[in-house]
Amino acid sequence: MQRYTTTTILLHWLIAALIVATFLLGLTMVDIHGLTPTKLKYFSWHKWLGVTVLGLACLRMLWRLKNPAPAYPAGMPRWEQVSAHALHSLLYVLIFAVPISGYCYSLAAGVPVVYLGVLPLPVLMAPNPELKPLLKLAHYVLNMILLGGVGLHVLAAFKHLFIDRDGVFKRILPRSIIN
Ligand code: HEM
Repeated sequence: MQRYTTTTILLHWLIAALIVATFLLGLTMVDIHGLTPTKLKYFSWHKWLGVTVLGLACLRMLWRLKNPAPAYPAGMPRWEQVSAHALHSLLYVLIFAVPISGYCYSLAAGVPVVYLGVLPLPVLMAPNPELKPLLKLAHYVLNMILLGGVGLHVLAAFKHLFIDRDGVFKRILPRSIIN
């Protein structure tokens, strides 16, 4: 069966791990009461991780344009192929929309992002008190959609691995794990 390229596999797992870390850090930091040094430090780490996801998402999109995904197995029902395609498209949109909403929220709140504390990133908008709560809500809602989408994605992957046993899950695993 056709497999994904090594670069696609690497980007898939790297982005997945970074999204989990950024998501959990996001939930942890907003739960800290008061503007403590730890909270500020976590905010910075969260933003740097999120911007890294955005950079890797750009690389992944460019790579994907030149390297289409392998075809689904011939026996896979049409509805499954259509839903898989729709869910993958949604996840592609979200790996951009989630960090972009966080970035814009930060700018609307008047806090420009300095990547890794050394590289000031473009200030694309002036502080905006009206947009600030909307962007905060957008970042939250997009994150919840991402959570639901990733949940479905994982369930579908396990269905391929344990029920269908059609090799689809293994196509995205590094060769060293399969052999
Ligand atoms: C993959 C990328 C990202 C994920 C998965 C993510 C996830 C989250 C989550 C789960 C929260 C907590 C939401 C809540 O419970 O209210 C959060 C909050 C936040 N995120 Fe992100 N985020 C990402 C990228 C970014 C980026 C790139 C920035 C800015 C450069 C950012 C800025 C913020 C800020 C400022 C908050 C705090 C919101 C508040 O004031 O309560 N995020 N994020």
